[in-house]
Amino acid sequence: MNADRWLADTRTSYDTVAVSYADQIREALAGAPYLRAALALFADLVHTAGGGPVADVGCGPGHVTAHLHELGVDAFGIDLSSVMIDVARRDHPHLRFEVGSMTDLDLADASVVGLLAIWSLIHVPDEAVPTVFDHFRRVLRPGGPLLLGFHVGDESRLKTQGYGGHPMNVHVHRRQPDQVAAWLRDAGFTVEARMLIDPDESVPGAVLFARRQS
Ligand SMILES: C[S@@+](CC[C@H](N)C(=O)[O-])C[C@H]1O[C@@H](n2cnc3c(N)ncnc32)[C@H](O)[C@@H]1O
Repeated sequence: MNADRWLADTRTSYDTVAVSYADQIREALAGAPYLRAALALFADLVHTAGGGPVADVGCGPGHVTAHLHELGVDAFGIDLSSVMIDVARRDHPHLRFEVGSMTDLDLADASVVGLLAIWSLIHVPDEAVPTVFDHFRRVLRPGGPLLLGFHVGDESRLKTQGYGGHPMNVHVHRRQPDQVAAWLRDAGFTVEARMLIDPDESVPGAVLFARRQS
């Protein structure tokens, strides 16, 4: 898949749905006790690692970034979609949000103590995942925790509309946790824990904890 093409399509899709997406998911964490527990554990790991900046990559409208902030984490958000970033800044004016892509992270080496990507890696095709994980490793401090959330499965599908019927043109890639764990190990991470959310549903969610090796 042409890298410029899928990135441009993903950006345009989320620019289109950003306001509706934010309206639909604003209260989502309240109904997601297992994800909240994962975020609380992640916050604990960040504090134990000494604290410092944490990047929420593919942050969307910033509700997870804000939740981590309430847990005492110095979180900031990065997203491909400039409209998502406008919405995040509007909804959380006290927090920092920047436009950027996880395929080319504009952060200094070892500049963050923790990094998370919740339901955002799902749009990155297989061939680009190793590059993304190389960036995650590069920007994380040695020993820094990483939290990934993704959809479990073996298929990729093209999503042509969403969040109130708005047009989208974005691929959604489901993956097996073993495959994601293997990519992480290849990139220099130790995988420490995994959790399956809604394992009886047709598309479970996977949450994976890893740590940058020293
Ligand atoms: C399904 S939303 C998830 C948003 C948020 N993390 C959440 O939990 O609701 C996917 C987000 O990932 C962003 N995204 C997709 N590809 C990206 C990339 N290459 N770099 C940064 N963000 C990306 C999209 O713009 C969108 O905001």
